[in-house]
Amino acid sequence: MNKFWKVLGVTVGALVVIGVVVGSITWAVLASRSPPPPEIQDLDWWEHTIIYQIYPRSFKDSDGDGIGDLKGITSKLDHFVETGVGAIWMSPIFVSPMVDFGYDISDFYNIQPEYGTMADFEELVVKAHQLGIKVLLDFVPNHASTDSEYFKLSEARAPGYEDYFVWADPRPDPTNASNRLVPSNWISQFGGSVWEWSELRQQYYLHQFAIEQADFNFREAAVKKEMLDIMTFWMEKGADGYRLDAIPHLFETAPDADGIYPDEPLSGSSSPGQPGYTTQIHVRDLIELYDVVYEWRDLSDEFKEKHGGDTKIMLAEAYANITMTMLYYGNERDRIGAHFPFNFDFITNLWAGSTARDFAYTIQRWMTYIPHGKVANWVFGNHDQKRMPSRFRDNMVDGLNSLNLMLPGVSVTYQGEEIGMQDGFVSWEDTVDVNACNRGNESNYLEFSRDPARTPYHWDDSVSAGFSTNATTWLPVSEDYTTINLQAQKEAARSHYKVYQSMTALRRSETTLSHGQHHVQALTQDTLALVRYLATYDTFVLLFNVGTAVDTADLTAIDLLSGPLTVCERSVHSSRASGDTIELGEVTLQPGEALVLRGPPV
Ligand code: NOJ
Ligand code: MG
Repeated sequence: MNKFWKVLGVTVGALVVIGVVVGSITWAVLASRSPPPPEIQDLDWWEHTIIYQIYPRSFKDSDGDGIGDLKGITSKLDHFVETGVGAIWMSPIFVSPMVDFGYDISDFYNIQPEYGTMADFEELVVKAHQLGIKVLLDFVPNHASTDSEYFKLSEARAPGYEDYFVWADPRPDPTNASNRLVPSNWISQFGGSVWEWSELRQQYYLHQFAIEQADFNFREAAVKKEMLDIMTFWMEKGADGYRLDAIPHLFETAPDADGIYPDEPLSGSSSPGQPGYTTQIHVRDLIELYDVVYEWRDLSDEFKEKHGGDTKIMLAEAYANITMTMLYYGNERDRIGAHFPFNFDFITNLWAGSTARDFAYTIQRWMTYIPHGKVANWVFGNHDQKRMPSRFRDNMVDGLNSLNLMLPGVSVTYQGEEIGMQDGFVSWEDTVDVNACNRGNESNYLEFSRDPARTPYHWDDSVSAGFSTNATTWLPVSEDYTTINLQAQKEAARSHYKVYQSMTALRRSETTLSHGQHHVQALTQDTLALVRYLATYDTFVLLFNVGTAVDTADLTAIDLLSGPLTVCERSVHSSRASGDTIELGEVTLQPGEALVLRGPPV
C-alpha cells in the first residue's frame, strides 16, 4: 500500500510539473498573440438593417398612367439588392380618395386600384422575400377617410359605430343660443379648426389633419380591436411590420362632465388658424396613447410566438420632445414598446448652418436618452420634409450618407437619397399637397408644400426620368434628372450612388460597424469625427467637414486612435484615393469633404 501511494505521489507530482510547464508555454504563446475577439452577439434581422422608404406614387410607374404602382416597385426589387438595403417601407398603398395621397384611407383591407391589386401586393412580398428584402407597410391608425364605411356608419349613428370617431356638440354661446360655436380652439396640423360640422349627424367631428381625415376615437374598444384586426390581416399577408403614422395624435383631452372641451392656451407665435398658434397641450403626446403602442408591440410579439417566422417590427412616427419620444421604446418598468421611434433629430435640429458641434451634440443627445439595450436609428429625410441635400448642401451628400450608414443601429434612407436627389420645383398650378393648398397661396406655398420632396424618382435620362413612359406624371419630374439619375451614377467612375453602395457593403462586412462602440467629436467648428471601434477589430473613422470653408483638423485630438489610417471611402469630390495613408496629425478637408478611414484596433 505504501509503495502504491509513493508511486502515485511521484506520478502526480510529475504530472503537475509537466502541466505547469505546458501551461506556461501555452500562456507565453497566447500572450504573444493578440487576445481572442470578444463574443459577438447575433443580431435580429432588423437591428442593423437599412430601411429604404418608398413613396409608391413616385417610385416607378409600370402602366404608363404617370403614377407609380406596385408592379413598378416589384420590377425594381433588384435595386434594393444592388444598393444593399435590407427592408423597404412603403407609404400607404390602401384604398384612398387621395386627399392626403394615401394617408386618408377609405378601405384599410384593400389596395388602391391605381397602385394595383391584392395579387400584385402578394407578388411583391413573395419576390421581395425571395431576394431577402423585408416589406414594411404604413399603418395609419389615427384617422380614416370620411369616405370610409367606418365614418359613414358613424355619421349615421349605426349601432356599434356611434362613437367610432370623436363627435361633439357645438359649444353653447351664452350670448346667442342659436350660434353654433366650435367645441374648442384646437387647430389642425394642416391649418384651420380641428372641428368640422356634419349636417347629417348635427355634430362636429374632430380631424387633426385634413377635413377628410376624421380622427378615430381611441377610447372606443371597438376601434382598438379593429386596429388589431387590420394589423393582423396584413401580417398574415406577409408584411414584416409597420411604420406607425402620426402616433402623437392618437388621443385628445376628453370633454368635461358637461361635454365641454377645454381651449388651449395661445403659444404667442404663429397666426390664427395656423398650427403652432395654440400650444397643442390637448391634442398631442397624451400619456394614454403609449399603452396603445405597447399593445401593438404585444400583438407583434404574440404573432411571432404563434406563427413563428421573423420578428415583425413596429416603428413609431412621432415628432415629439426627447422624453416623449423615448417613451415609445417602452416605459422602462414593465412595458416594451415600438422597436424604435424614428429619430428625426437630423431633420428638426440640424440644417445647412449647423456646425460640427451641433452634429456631435445631436448624435450624443439621442445616444444619451435612449434606454439601455435599445436600438438607435437615423433618419435624414422623408416625404414630409425638404430633401436632405436641399436642407443641407449638395456637397454634403456623401458625408451625410456615410454618417447615416456608420452610426450605430438602423439606417433609414428616403428614396433618392442614395443618388443625392434634391427637391424638385413644383409650380403653384401643379401643387397638389393638401398642406400647401390649405395653408399657402401663390407667393408662400413653398413654405408648406411637401410636393418638392415627392417628385418622381430619377432612374435614367429618358422620358420622365425612366419613372414612367408617360411624359406627363402626377407631379412633374425635376429638371435636374438629366444629370442626377441612377443610371448615370452607375456608369460614372465616381458618384453618390457608388459611395452609398460601397458604404452599405462596408456596413455589412465589418463587425465594428454592426457591434462596435461609437465616439463622436467635433475636432474643430467644422470638422466632425465619428469613430467606431470594437476590441480587436479594425477601427473606422469618418471625418466630415460640414462647413463652407477649407478646414484643418488635428487627429491627435482623438484619444482612441493609435496608428496611421487608410482611406477606404471618400466623397465624390475628394482628391484622396482609396488606400491613401492618413497620418495621425493634421488633416485638411475641403468644404463638404468626407473621408472614411480604416485603422488598427484601439
Ligand atoms: C404623417 C405622414 O407622414 C404625412 O404625410 C401625413 O400627412 C400625416 N401623417 C397624416 O397622416
Ligand atoms: Mg401606374
